[in-house]
Amino acid sequence: MSEDRVHVLLHASELLTGEGVRRKDGRRPEEADLGRIEDGAMAYSVKTVPYEDFTTGKKGMKVVADKVLWTGKSDALPSEYANSPIFDLDGKNAVVPGLVDCHNHLVFAGDRAGEFAARCGGATYAEIAAAGGGIQTTVRATREASDEELFKLGRARLEEAHRFGIRTIEAKSGYGLNEKTELKLLRVVKRLQEATPEMTIVPTFLGAHDFPKEISREAYLAEVIEKQLPAVAKEKLAEACDVFIDEGFYTLAEGRKILEAAKALGLRTKVHADELANTESAALAAELGALSADHLLKISDAGIRALAASETTAVLLPGTAFYLKAPHAPARKLLDAGARVAISTDFNPGTSTTLNLPAVLTIAALYLGLSRAEIFASATYNAARALGLHDRKGSLEVGKDADFFVAPFRKFEELYYRFAW
Ligand code: NIG
Ligand code: FE
Repeated sequence: MSEDRVHVLLHASELLTGEGVRRKDGRRPEEADLGRIEDGAMAYSVKTVPYEDFTTGKKGMKVVADKVLWTGKSDALPSEYANSPIFDLDGKNAVVPGLVDCHNHLVFAGDRAGEFAARCGGATYAEIAAAGGGIQTTVRATREASDEELFKLGRARLEEAHRFGIRTIEAKSGYGLNEKTELKLLRVVKRLQEATPEMTIVPTFLGAHDFPKEISREAYLAEVIEKQLPAVAKEKLAEACDVFIDEGFYTLAEGRKILEAAKALGLRTKVHADELANTESAALAAELGALSADHLLKISDAGIRALAASETTAVLLPGTAFYLKAPHAPARKLLDAGARVAISTDFNPGTSTTLNLPAVLTIAALYLGLSRAEIFASATYNAARALGLHDRKGSLEVGKDADFFVAPFRKFEELYYRFAW
């Protein structure tokens, strides 16, 4: 490999590879699993790819990190990399695996600031939804928005997420609730990925986020299964299919039907599970071999046992519980039972309006009781696992993607010790 096709980071205050977390497949992470290298260094290959500038929108070519070639102590840098471009961090920055935001409703239009004010005045999320607000408010705005508007909104959000150290991010559809708009959203996500090689954007089909008002429940269920899912699979617009199984939304039986249809088309599965009420949907996720069961505020002990015994990652969203003033998920019970736990923003216009994953990690540390090692694993390897990307993402190891975050501080824990930096 020619020397300028390799870049080197030198003198990181600490470099956390996360190798041990990967070896344990994300369960019961401990300090020793962080793979901490003091005065760390990393050599990685780079590639030149097309991109669009975040600020000007101008198209061009850009050099981006490709694969990890070597990690170790700075004074042990192999001589073969000594003449490559070196970024000397002078002991001022920690380097960690790029954060993974594995539950994100990235693309929608409009806002719900008025509904937030109503909630602050005492109205509940369920009352607002029952009155035609909530998800339906955002569906109306999103159906009216042009592709270009949605693309611009998505790009601004990606730029913000990048500043917080996020390098891999999920993008769910779900604010279309008809074939035309659900496909429009996923096509916008595809365009966002083409414009943004600095990040990996993982599309998830969430046509079953709610029921649209203009057709019957049965008709929409049939449309999702017979029209939307096959169209999404045919155009390869999503990696996974998600369903909001909850009181007032999809029943367990409806969710099972949709997820089984998705699996038959070769899609992975995910579930918005046991959030507003216990529906035993976490157990369904485990039974179906879903990538993740997400939310879990109301998960039962049987659900916890089912997840711990399965390959399904428990994705907790404490920013959402905070924003809804709801009791938090039983994180310690899940962790102590041996479940693989990830933490994510759940960025959306109704129940979690932030892309600040580090701030959500602060909530997780304080209110879910996660240790430093658990926090680290939850936003790196375990979140990559929840997207099925753990072979490429989530730890800095030779051969994996060189997705890293040069943090603006010396110690990893400042990521969540400094609240909402
Ligand atoms: O993940 N739980 C379902 N969906 C979103 C909320 C969507 C909305 O209110 O717009 C969530 O919390
Ligand atoms: Fe969500």
